[in-house]
Amino acid sequence: MMGGPFSADVPLVGRDDELCRLDAVLTRVLGGDAHVLVVSGQAGVGKTRLAREALTRARSRGFRTLTGLAGPLQRDLSHAPLVEALRPLVRPDPPRSAPVQDLSDLGWLFGDASRPPTPALGDPGLERTRLFEAVCRLLERTVARQPVALLVDDVQWADRGSLALLHHLVRGLAGRRFLLLLTHRPAENEPALTELLTGLQRAGVVTELRLGGLPARDVERLAQALLAGEPPPALTEVLAARAGGVPLFVAALVGFLQDSGTLTRPDGRWVLAAQLPEAVPAVVSGLLRSQVERLPAEARAVLDLLAVCGGQAPHPLLEALTPGDPLMAGLAALRGAGLLAEEVAGGEVRYRVVHPLLAEVAYDLLPLVTRLRRHAEVARAVEARLPGRWGLLAPHVRRAGDELDPRHALDLLLTATDDALSRHAGDEALADARAARDLATRLGRHDLLPGLADRLAEACQRAGQREEAVTAWLDAARWQPAGGERADRLHRAAVLELQAGRGQECLRWLAAAEAELAAVAPSPFHVPVAWSRLQVAARSQGPAEAEAAIADLDRLADRLGSARARAAVLYGRCHTAFTAGRYEEARAHLAALLDTAAELDDPLLGERARRPGFVLELARGDLGAARALSEEGLRLVQRIGVPALELAHRVDLGMADFFAGDWNRALRRCGEVLDLGQRFGLPRGTAVGMALRALVAVRQGRLEEARACAGAARAASDASALPDRHVLGPVEAVTAAVALAEDDPATAAATAARAVRRRTTLPAFTLAVAADAQLVAGNREGAAAAATALDDLGPGAPYPAALAAVVRGRLARDPDRLARAAADLARLGFRYEAAVADVDAAEVADVRADADDRLAAALCTLDELGARPQADRARRLLRRQGRRVPAPPRARGRGPLSRREEDVVRLVARGLSNAEVARRLYLSPRTVTTHLQHVYARLQLGSRAALVRYVLEELPPDAYPGPADT
Ligand SMILES: Nc1ncnc2c1ncn2[C@@H]1O[C@H](COP(=O)(O)OP(=O)(O)O)[C@@H](O)[C@H]1O
Ligand SMILES: [Mg+2]
Repeated sequence: MMGGPFSADVPLVGRDDELCRLDAVLTRVLGGDAHVLVVSGQAGVGKTRLAREALTRARSRGFRTLTGLAGPLQRDLSHAPLVEALRPLVRPDPPRSAPVQDLSDLGWLFGDASRPPTPALGDPGLERTRLFEAVCRLLERTVARQPVALLVDDVQWADRGSLALLHHLVRGLAGRRFLLLLTHRPAENEPALTELLTGLQRAGVVTELRLGGLPARDVERLAQALLAGEPPPALTEVLAARAGGVPLFVAALVGFLQDSGTLTRPDGRWVLAAQLPEAVPAVVSGLLRSQVERLPAEARAVLDLLAVCGGQAPHPLLEALTPGDPLMAGLAALRGAGLLAEEVAGGEVRYRVVHPLLAEVAYDLLPLVTRLRRHAEVARAVEARLPGRWGLLAPHVRRAGDELDPRHALDLLLTATDDALSRHAGDEALADARAARDLATRLGRHDLLPGLADRLAEACQRAGQREEAVTAWLDAARWQPAGGERADRLHRAAVLELQAGRGQECLRWLAAAEAELAAVAPSPFHVPVAWSRLQVAARSQGPAEAEAAIADLDRLADRLGSARARAAVLYGRCHTAFTAGRYEEARAHLAALLDTAAELDDPLLGERARRPGFVLELARGDLGAARALSEEGLRLVQRIGVPALELAHRVDLGMADFFAGDWNRALRRCGEVLDLGQRFGLPRGTAVGMALRALVAVRQGRLEEARACAGAARAASDASALPDRHVLGPVEAVTAAVALAEDDPATAAATAARAVRRRTTLPAFTLAVAADAQLVAGNREGAAAAATALDDLGPGAPYPAALAAVVRGRLARDPDRLARAAADLARLGFRYEAAVADVDAAEVADVRADADDRLAAALCTLDELGARPQADRARRLLRRQGRRVPAPPRARGRGPLSRREEDVVRLVARGLSNAEVARRLYLSPRTVTTHLQHVYARLQLGSRAALVRYVLEELPPDAYPGPADT
């Protein structure tokens, strides 16, 4: 009998520094800052032990704790560790109300009968996002009640799906009381895990605890604990020499010496024999091996079986493979040796080898033939006893070699692939489809290969492996006959490339799809391809390309009577009319498009139609209509349940807020947009979010911030190979506005002109900046030309018309004209523009009482907006006219701090360094220091700690959280 080296009774020894850092992390998380604690080190060094200690401490501080374990045979078992960890939230035991309401997408993971009520989207990437988002919501709701610590043990064995989901969770739960604990063996990391860890590290949310061997002093204490008595000095020496401070090996060595009768306690004191047995091997994995070999036969048989099952198995499976009595005896013996853990999960008793290394050693000891046979036996048992458990069955089918009848194995793998696809289990589907393809090739079943190529591609896409999915779709295309079917696969590759921002590749596969289609009669395959062509043209190319695509779709609509093709035509016509400045025509097409989308009851189509709609109404100056369109777009996206698609509509709402002069709300939208962009890896999100932030900053006179945000926006938009009007429009507009604010009218005019040539999505705003720049530069013709261009927009567009009137009024120094334009702008809801036009009117007017009153009112608006530069101008004018001028308000009228100062101290209170604060707020470190000096002086605080206390006790909860909070 072994000495129970894995017994959990031994108290934790040493690790003081690690525990200290762990406590700090718990405090940080309790303060509302999601964090990742990574415990790394070689097998047996004590990662799991430390992580469990962390969970114990977390529980005692009020956390809810969840645990999932990854295993070597589960590498392609989709989401296995997370399913395990989250199950208690979905099916609480004892049953009570679970926070899963409206989260039917969770059914994909937890095999519930409840399938999503929303239709499948036909896009595995989006469906996967939807699933991830449901998990995120689930945790969000849990975290709202109680802080959560989630442990994924041995994450080096987690499937890629789990890794992607973890990444998503950490991003999605930023700023909440969520702790993710990971343990891993760095030596066995796959690139996907390395990528996850570096990604998280870059985001600054990781604390890493690298565990080395225990120091000699702690080894001695561990031996003392294991022996429940004083270890003889000779033993301490042997342990130090042999175990390298690794607790697992210390325990194994102690157990082995006891078992071999070398370490004994004849009269109450432990004694080590002078002669150590030959078998004390230098390499301790050999020790584990000898432990395995010395197990009683029935225990060994069960251990072998568990090893074949990847270290864990449900009871019914073991029962099917080993008859009752020997099984129970074996289990009892393993349990007695401290090698077995039992648990109930999902209503099923499961067994698990306590240390994965032990299962690995046992597996390695099995001869290859035995392994194959065992996998085949397990496969047959699962098939007979646990029908429908394809996820459990398939790995054994894949590993059984020819021990299973290959034809039968192929059948099983095909079904398993489809089952995995239907469960959104991309990694499993991928492994199964690959194995099925190899087997089909070997068996000469060429008839199956085209279908398998499709499944492989689908699986790659579901597993989130975009690049592999492109290659797989191209391969799938080769298996299809020329024409529509082949074009369909090429098109799927093109769409994936477009999402990844790889324009050249996208165009290449799109052209290849079109070439296929050119050779065959029009068919439903033609429609999506032509629509993608139109989208590329509308986003990134010129009117000729768009016209060609529209003509194509028009022909298809006629030939096929396809409503979707007709909708695409309307979309295209709306776009063309808009870019040509024919707004009334564009509106007619838009109305027809919205009708078609409603008739087809297609939310995807409906949301797509609302983008150009918003841009159009904004450009005309109907802020109410524009907002209504983006709100409806957002509602439709939420109905589909794909948050990544919310991005565009949230950007639009932020734009509407910006132009309506609700800048605080616009800034909040920026935060949401930046968050979404980061969470889903969409550079467009960063680009437009930053651009919008820069727009507010420039109008509020925070030039440093405006410049930094505009730079970040440009960098993010440059990162995409295919320029996108919806992104470039705002980015170029703000770049021009910043240049103008910096007294560089030449750059401002040139940038604005470039944007207009590119058919920006913000034509009126951009032309107004151009006109401003020309006026500042003293170029009257240039300004007049901009006014004409503004007038050419529309007709029937009140916003550009009012802006044109402002330019003309300034050129003619005509206060009445300016006042009328200001009134028009005010009626349309453009509060800032209206106020500025009133200031312009006052400037060109000689002293006139009514202009004075309007000037005072404009100053009020500008002060309320925090539009410092224009407010200062209005103040100067009022003073010049001898009026009493109200003092400028503090930017955030509450408490003694300005808005900026408040932003700074809040971040400091979260434990960020000055440099980090500067990075987040787009300030220079010097500026941050200056802000802090002012705050310390004004509040008479003596230390950073006092400042933190002030923030926690005196400041109201954060209404405007910093956007880059991850
Ligand atoms: N600091 C420690 N004090 C006491 N026992 C420990 C300590 N670290 C590890 N152990 C024990 O050593 C064995 C191996 O540790 P484990 O945490 O499973 O290693 P890992 O997860 O790194 O492979 C376990 O039985 C564990 O209880
Ligand atoms: Mg472990």
